[in-house]
Amino acid sequence: MPESTHPATEPRVRREVVSFVRRSTRMRPQQLRAWERLRHAYVIEVPRRASSTSVATGHRLDLAGAFGRTAPLIVEIGSGTGESLVAMAAARADANVLAFEVYLPGIARTVSRLHEEQIGNVRLVQADAVAGLTQLLGPSSITELWTFFPDPWPKARHHKRRLVDTAFADLVATGLKSGGSWRLATDWADYADQIRAVLDPHPAFESAAGAPDGWAERLADRPLTRFEQRGLDAGRTVRDLHYRRAC
Ligand SMILES: C[S@@+](CC[C@H](N)C(=O)[O-])C[C@H]1O[C@@H](n2cnc3c(N)ncnc32)[C@H](O)[C@@H]1O
Repeated sequence: MPESTHPATEPRVRREVVSFVRRSTRMRPQQLRAWERLRHAYVIEVPRRASSTSVATGHRLDLAGAFGRTAPLIVEIGSGTGESLVAMAAARADANVLAFEVYLPGIARTVSRLHEEQIGNVRLVQADAVAGLTQLLGPSSITELWTFFPDPWPKARHHKRRLVDTAFADLVATGLKSGGSWRLATDWADYADQIRAVLDPHPAFESAAGAPDGWAERLADRPLTRFEQRGLDAGRTVRDLHYRRAC
């Protein structure tokens, strides 16, 4: 065989398919100062495996230590700038609310909002929620999970990047307590249909929509976020979904 003409290279590290875009972490100086001052009160640091959104294998969160108490756990995935998180956590003072978000300036904005509103029952982890659920939380530890306006990845060739698929549903099923709720919302009709196609037949979930057509009522105190408004402005219909972990 002829010798390869290609130069010797390091073996390539295969990049996983993730549900988010790696965006700039740049913040304005004022934002950065607030972030440095406030982050320690709200953000839980975790050991990493490789990237800044990964989590070291086998690292479990000490939730009682992080929140300073034991309480039912609500998890939000993709909290963005905290528009839903801050208002909804404020209305659930008896719960510990943990958010996974990858976008650092969004986390910084959330932390500022939490400080302004003097909300003490929220902690954030900068991590891919898939790694967060896999490593950081034990089985049957979550009472309620929120996934509001997950990145839609509208192009067909990007659908594989959508967060909610069967593998992710299996992960959520492991983390949710029996009878625990998974509430979702999206303004992308085909993503809403995809979620139905995954969760309606999933053996670990039953519909808690309460309506014969399978779509849930909007959660009364879920605020109208910038993402939702953008969808409405574009003429899209917002769908709420609600499932329960079957016993
Ligand atoms: C379209 S935004 C919606 C934000 C917020 N839920 C709202 O309704 O305003 C989706 C958010 O999910 C985050 N995200 C996407 N995939 C994620 C993942 N695997 N783990 C954590 N956050 C993720 C993105 O960084 C982004 O901030």
